[in-house]
Amino acid sequence: MHTIFYFTGTGNCLQVARELAARFPEDVNLIRVCSDTLHLAKEKYSGRIGIVYPTYSNNMPIMLKNFLEELQVEDTPDNYIYTVCVHGGMPGRVHVFLESIFRRKGTPVNGAFLVRLPHNGIVIFDAEQEEKQRLWFEGLPARVQEIVDAVMAETPVTCGNTSPSPKAIKALGLKLPPGPPPDEQIAPNPIFDPQKREKEFFADEGCIGCGTCVSVCPADNIALEDGHPVWKGHCESCMACFQWCPAECVQFADQTQSRRRYHNPNIKLNEIQLR
Ligand SMILES: Cc1cc2nc3c(=O)[nH]c(=O)nc-3n(C[C@H](O)[C@H](O)[C@H](O)COP(=O)(O)O)c2cc1C
Ligand code: SF4
Ligand code: SF4
Repeated sequence: MHTIFYFTGTGNCLQVARELAARFPEDVNLIRVCSDTLHLAKEKYSGRIGIVYPTYSNNMPIMLKNFLEELQVEDTPDNYIYTVCVHGGMPGRVHVFLESIFRRKGTPVNGAFLVRLPHNGIVIFDAEQEEKQRLWFEGLPARVQEIVDAVMAETPVTCGNTSPSPKAIKALGLKLPPGPPPDEQIAPNPIFDPQKREKEFFADEGCIGCGTCVSVCPADNIALEDGHPVWKGHCESCMACFQWCPAECVQFADQTQSRRRYHNPNIKLNEIQLR
């Protein structure tokens, strides 16, 4: 049995999960972690188990963390558990946090991998220039093949030292005590508070009431009221509502009005829509 769980807002992790799945000789069961599939954590999994996920401010989607804590993994010698962090240039040590979740279950992560794709965090940074984005996509097939080869060979792999640089720590507003970080020091971190951030989301006058934002939200956190979106208080900060809105009218306070939008160019809207 081979299962890949993925979480996605703007399609990067879906692309990586799909490309991985296509290169293995066996059938791979792809499961998107979202509000509709949380119950699937209670089934039993064994064999090759992959987790493909974005990093959010050195953390991971809260829904994914809860899902993985619940995930039932059979303790068999055939397991090879691997994680693939699809990041935007500063993966930090989120994979260490993820490893600690599996270690506590008694089924350790065997391979931890990183993949660089464009940054989707419009609430933090502007999108990268398209030429730069193209570079990350050009490197993807070779990187995916490296991961597949390592998983097939059951090679133990770690991410190496990916601690954020002092510059990145400062830019993110993180404050870390001196010394090597223990497993869970970075997560949760004080700047990753999606529900606080969500309080300042709104649709500006460009909204056409199409409901795309409702349909793409993995947390089912948006409803249309009088033709306009309202956010319901359990945001994951995935940016799907910002990045797939055809009118580019979802805003965060006064931070996003002049920033370019990004969603993965190889994934279609209907492949992200959940409802
Ligand atoms: C709120 C937020 C915070 C993020 N923080 C980081 C970060 O600390 N480091 C990083 O490398 N990428 C960061 N990213 C970028 C995403 O991890 C990256 O673009 C990912 O590939 C998006 O996956 P998706 O397209 O499947 O949703 C952040 C994105 C968001 C939305
Ligand atoms: S996707 Fe954009 S235009 Fe459509 S309802 Fe949502 S905010 Fe309005
Ligand atoms: S409300 Fe928007 S940012 Fe929050 S989880 Fe839903 S789609 Fe993602």
